[in-house]
Amino acid sequence: MTSEASQSESVYTIVYVSRLNGKMDRDRLRELNDQAREKNAQLGLTGLLVHKANHFLQVIEGGKKEVEEIMEAIKKDPRHKDVTMIARVPDQPRRFSRWSMAIADWPEDNEELSNAYDNLLEEMRNYGSRLGPPAPIIDFLESLSRHGTFFEG
Ligand SMILES: Cc1cc2nc3c(=O)[nH]c(=O)nc-3n(C[C@H](O)[C@H](O)[C@H](O)COP(=O)(O)O)c2cc1C
Repeated sequence: MTSEASQSESVYTIVYVSRLNGKMDRDRLRELNDQAREKNAQLGLTGLLVHKANHFLQVIEGGKKEVEEIMEAIKKDPRHKDVTMIARVPDQPRRFSRWSMAIADWPEDNEELSNAYDNLLEEMRNYGSRLGPPAPIIDFLESLSRHGTFFEG
């Protein structure tokens, strides 16, 4: 076990994908990030929000009540639609503790990562919660989070 893993705390984790409703430019993403970061910090939530082409993919982790409540608010947000739940994992280590919320700016030069993400997104859209155990998805998102760049708080 690494020292990082030994600090792990058990959290409730949710993963979903959605489709953008309208346009999302950098300013709007920043606005969304600022909103989410502040509230998530208050609620002890962490995670990763990825925007690419017409989709969002988000992982949110924290206390079950807080995660489910924020998810209810997010589902109603007019900035996106077709929210598809991929997974709810009751008890796993916190994986995104560095961020209250962050939006990855795509590492455009990393074609391998970009293609892997496109494939994953397509599988998610096709299979939704029937996709199987979410561990590989969360692993992939964690590796993505090491390559993207983030809005700083
Ligand atoms: C794709 C997407 C992801 C979001 N993620 C979060 C989030 O992680 N945390 C959060 O507080 N709000 C998030 N929001 C914003 C919420 O939908 C909502 O606007 C916000 O929580 C409203 O807060 P308020 O009721 O305090 O104004 C997200 C919105 C979108 C469209």
